[in-house]
Amino acid sequence: MGSTRFSGILVSCLLVIIGLSEAQLQLGFYAKNCPNAEKIVKDYVGEHIHNAPSLAAALLRLHFHDCFVRGCDASVLLNSTSSNQAEKDAPPNLSLRGFDFIDRIKSRLEAQCPGIVSCADVVALVARDSIVATGGPTWKVPTGRRDGMIARGAEAIANLPPSTSNFSNLQSLFANVGLDWKDLVLLSGAHTIGISHCSSFSNRLYNFTGVGDQDPDLKTEYAAKLKAKCKTPTDTTTFVEMDPGSVRTFDLSYYTHLLKRRGLFQSDAALKTSPTAYNYINQLLKGPLQNFFYEFGKSMEKMGRANVKTGSAGEIRKQCSVVNS
Ligand code: HEM
Ligand SMILES: *[C@@H]1O[C@H](CO)[C@@H](O)[C@H](O)[C@H]1NC(C)=O
Ligand SMILES: *[C@@H]1O[C@H](CO)[C@@H](O)[C@H](O)[C@H]1NC(C)=O
Ligand SMILES: *[C@@H]1O[C@H](CO)[C@@H](O)[C@H](O)[C@H]1NC(C)=O
Ligand SMILES: *[C@@H]1O[C@H](CO)[C@@H](O)[C@H](O)[C@H]1NC(C)=O
Repeated sequence: MGSTRFSGILVSCLLVIIGLSEAQLQLGFYAKNCPNAEKIVKDYVGEHIHNAPSLAAALLRLHFHDCFVRGCDASVLLNSTSSNQAEKDAPPNLSLRGFDFIDRIKSRLEAQCPGIVSCADVVALVARDSIVATGGPTWKVPTGRRDGMIARGAEAIANLPPSTSNFSNLQSLFANVGLDWKDLVLLSGAHTIGISHCSSFSNRLYNFTGVGDQDPDLKTEYAAKLKAKCKTPTDTTTFVEMDPGSVRTFDLSYYTHLLKRRGLFQSDAALKTSPTAYNYINQLLKGPLQNFFYEFGKSMEKMGRANVKTGSAGEIRKQCSVVNS
C-alpha cells in the first residue's frame, strides 16, 4: 500500500517535472522546425538597423513594453479593434516605434517557415540583435514564446511604470514581472540611448507640485537647457535626447548624469532615493563597462522570461498586428 502511494507520488512528481520542462523557453527552440529563424532575424537587423540606428532604442523599448503587460507575448503589437483599445493605443505608448520593422521580419520568416516563429520571439530577438548591432551589450534569448490573443489598453496603463514613479512604485511594478531592485537599476540603464518627448517630463520643468514650480531635484542648468527645447508645458511633439551627449552609445553616462541630478524622468531620479540602489549605481560607475553590459544582459534575459506563454498556450500569429482568424 505504502509503496503504491509512494510510486503514485513519484509519478505525479515526474509529471510535474515533465510539465515544467515543457513549459520552459529554450535556446535554439527553432533549430529543428525553422533552423534559419534566428539568422533571418539577425541578418535583417544587420542589413537595416544602420539606416536608422535610433530604431534600436525603440525596439528595445518595445520588448520592455511587451513583457510588462501580459508577459512577453507580443500583445504590444496587436492593433485595436472597433470594440477594444489595444496596448498600442494607450497613453504609455508615447513614441513606440518599430512596428513596420517587426512586420517585415515576420514576413521573411513566414516565407520560409509559415506558422512556426512567434511574434513574441521576434520582438525578443530583434531587441537583442539591434542593440548588439549598434554596439551595445548582448544577452541570451531562449525562444519558444507563444503569442497572446488579448491586448488591453487599460492593462498597459496599470502595468507600465509612469515617468513620475517613485522608487516603491517602480519596485512593485517590476516585482509583478519577477524583477528585483537590481534589475530595476540595470534596466533603467537602457535610457542611455534614445529619445523622450517633452510631455514625458515637462511637469518637472513647469508645474512640479501644481504651483508653477520646478522639480528641485533637477539641476538648474539642465532644467534650463530642457526648457529651451521644451518651450511650453503643453508641447507634445518636441523630443530630446535622454542621455545628452551620447544618445547613441550604450555606456555608463546615464548613471553619471543621474548622480549629478541630470536624470530626465522622476523615475530615473528615484533610483537615487534607495540607498541600496544608490550604492549599486556607484559600483557600476567604477566599471569596467563590460561589467554593466554583463549584468544588463542578465536582467534582459530575465525580463524576456516574464510570464511567457509556452507549449500549447496562445498561438503563433500569422501577422503580428492581428490574432489569427
Ligand atoms: C523604470 C521604469 C521606466 C520608465 C518610467 C520609463 C519611461 C520612459 C519614457 C517616459 C520614455 C520616453 C517616451 C517618450 O516620451 O517618447 C522612455 C523611453 C525609453 N525607454 Fe524607458 N522607462 C522605464 C524603463 C525602461 C526599460 C526597462 C527599458 C528597456 C530595457 C527602457 C527603454 C527605453 C528606451 C530605449 C527608450 C527610448 C525610446 C526611443 O528612443 O524611441 N525603459 N522610457
Ligand atoms: C494595424 O494597424 C496599422 C496602423 O494603423 C496598419 O498599418 C496595419 O495594416 C494594421 N494591420 C492589419 C493586419 O490590419
Ligand atoms: C498611441 O496612442 C494614440 C491614442 O492614445 C494613438 O493615436 C497613436 O497612434 C498611438 N501610437 C502608436 C505608435 O501606436
Ligand atoms: C510613492 O507614490 C505613491 C503614489 O503613487 C505613494 O502612495 C507613496 O507614498 C509614495 N512613496 C514614497 C516613499 O514616497
Ligand atoms: C499647474 O497645475 C495646477 C494644478 O494641476 C493647475 O491648476 C495650473 O493651471 C497649472 N499651471 C500651469 C502653468 O500649467
